Amino acid sequence: MADKSFFLKGSNHLDWGMQSRLSRIFNPETGRSVMLAFDHGFIMGPTTGVERIDQSIVPLIPYADCLMCTRGILRSMIPPSCNKPVCMRSDAGSSILTKLNNNVVIDIEDAVRLNVSAMAVMVAVGDPDFEAQTVANLTEAVDAGQAAGIPIMGVTAVGKDMVRDARYFGLASRICAENGANIVKTYYTEGFEKVVSCCPVPIVIAGGKKLPEKEALELAYNAIQCGASGVDMGRNVFQSEAPTAMIQAVSAVVHKGMNPNDAFQLYNDLKASRS
Ligand code: R5P
Repeated sequence: MADKSFFLKGSNHLDWGMQSRLSRIFNPETGRSVMLAFDHGFIMGPTTGVERIDQSIVPLIPYADCLMCTRGILRSMIPPSCNKPVCMRSDAGSSILTKLNNNVVIDIEDAVRLNVSAMAVMVAVGDPDFEAQTVANLTEAVDAGQAAGIPIMGVTAVGKDMVRDARYFGLASRICAENGANIVKTYYTEGFEKVVSCCPVPIVIAGGKKLPEKEALELAYNAIQCGASGVDMGRNVFQSEAPTAMIQAVSAVVHKGMNPNDAFQLYNDLKASRS
């Protein structure tokens, strides 16, 4: 059997508690994770697919490796008995009605109380108004996370005026890691190998806006081929015509390296059998 200690990029210097939490998120067999993101409501309100978390998200929980949501949804909608690790969205202060302005980080004591496995904090690299505030949020969370043994995920924001290329995502990811993030969430782009190779901690990719299922599976496949440690995917799962089939197909890509054609076939087969 392979030695699974220190299986995760950048984690060999971490305390046992931190590594234990990371190994709940990232499957120790593959070093990868399918995180199901449904934190969208904290900025977008009841957007398509998250109007009724009990109906749309709860049935998907068994197929996810980790849940990404806010503490409000966690407490009100997610059964604690599901026994899934949670990456808690831990910054706040924006909505779709205002300009980006995340200026609050949830207290670490509540993260401990909720037994979360990670906290996610957004960083707006390149935003002249909010870069400094959001980097300060990240460092505040990292300091608290180190003390409590809770990993911090840096979430790279994409401003309307930012160029979404490998140079920008490489910069934003590296800044998150340099400031102590244990995981980075960013977006797939051409040249993604360099984004991953220059980031000393695991990278997961967001799915972004809803794509046709085959394209979303290609996105996940390309990211994994470039070295990503998984996905933190929301809309391309819960807005799919067959969300349960879609999350299983994504999981096959992430954990088995299934190619997009086979994964799309799997999606269609599961959809047809309503699995
Ligand atoms: C973005 O900050 C949100 O927090 C989502 O968690 C993230 O974008 C992943 O969701 P999606 O795959 O829908 O983009």
